[in-house]
Amino acid sequence: MSDKQSVTVHAPGKVNLQLNVGGRRTDGYHEIATIFLAVSCYDKLVLRRSSGLRVTVSGTGAGEVPADDSNLAGQAIKAVAKMGGVEPDVHIHIHKRIPVQGGMGGGSSDAAGALLGGDALWQLGIGRAGLMSLAEELGSDVPFSMLGGVALGRGRGEALQPLTSGITYHWVFAVAGFGLSTPAVFGAHERHRQEAGLPFAAGCLPAPQVSPRLIDALACGDVDLVAQNLTNDLEFVASRMRPELTRTLTVGRGAGALAGFLCGTGATTAFLVPNESTAHDVAEALLASETCASVRIARGPVQGPRIGKAEEF
Ligand code: C5P
Repeated sequence: MSDKQSVTVHAPGKVNLQLNVGGRRTDGYHEIATIFLAVSCYDKLVLRRSSGLRVTVSGTGAGEVPADDSNLAGQAIKAVAKMGGVEPDVHIHIHKRIPVQGGMGGGSSDAAGALLGGDALWQLGIGRAGLMSLAEELGSDVPFSMLGGVALGRGRGEALQPLTSGITYHWVFAVAGFGLSTPAVFGAHERHRQEAGLPFAAGCLPAPQVSPRLIDALACGDVDLVAQNLTNDLEFVASRMRPELTRTLTVGRGAGALAGFLCGTGATTAFLVPNESTAHDVAEALLASETCASVRIARGPVQGPRIGKAEEF
C-alpha cells in the first residue's frame, strides 16, 4: 500500500473554437460538433488522505460551487475509488481560477483532475486511458478535460478525435459578473428554433459539422484564418439572455483582438489575440470598460491535467 499522503493536480480550462449545435436527441442532449482547445487557466486541486470524503472550494466564484454530493470532483473521486476497490477517504480542496458557470469547462476540469489525482494518490495504476470511461459518465466535457490539447468533439461532446495545432495561441478571457447555466442556454437555443418554426429534433436535422477550413488553419498555425472561423451557435441566445455580453464582445474586438466570441454556453467571452502585448492591451480595455468582472490572459493549446511537483503540496 502506498504511503502517499497528498497529491496536487493542475487542471486547465477549455474554449470551444467552433460550437455547432444540431438537434435534441431523445436522451435530452444536443448533437454537437465542436473543436475543444485546452488553455492555461488552471484550477488547482489538492487531494489529501482523510476519513470520509470532503470537498472544499476557494478562489473566484467559490461560493457558487457546490461542496455537497452534487460536486462533480467528489463524484469523480467516488467513481475512481470504486474502480480501484478503495474507500473514497479523501479531502479534496479546489482552488478556482477557471470562471464558474463560465462555459470554460471548470467543473469538468475539476472532475478530470480528481480522477487523475485519485489514481495517483492511491497508486491504482488505472491511467488516463482507463479513466476515460469514468470521464464519459461524469459529463459531456469531462473526456476532453482529461485529454487536453486540441480535439474535435462529436456526439454530445464526448466522442473525441485529437487534432494537431501548428502553434500556441494567445487568449484573453473576459469573466462576466454572472454565470449562465448550460441546460438553460441549450434550452433557450431550442426555444429560439421553435419560435422561428425551425426543426429541433435530432432526427429532423443533419448532423452538425465543424468547418474543415478551421481544422486546416489549426494544423498550419494560420492565426488569421483561425480567427475568421471562430463561431458559436449559442452566442445569439446567450447574448439575448444577457445583452451585457454584446458590449463586452464589442470592447474586446475594438481593442485589437482578432476575434471575440462566447465560450461554450457562456458567460465568459473569449478573444484571440496576435501576441502577448496585444493580450495586455485587450485585457486593460476590457477592465477599463467595466463590461466584465475580471480577465484572464492565457495561452493554448496546453496539455490536460497534470500532477504538481512535491513542493507545491
Ligand atoms: O453532460 P453534462 O452533464 O455536462 O450536461 C449538462 C446539461 O447540458 C445536460 O443535462 C443538457 O441539458 C445540456 N447539454 C445538452 N447537449 C450537450 C451537452 C449538454 O443539451 N451536448
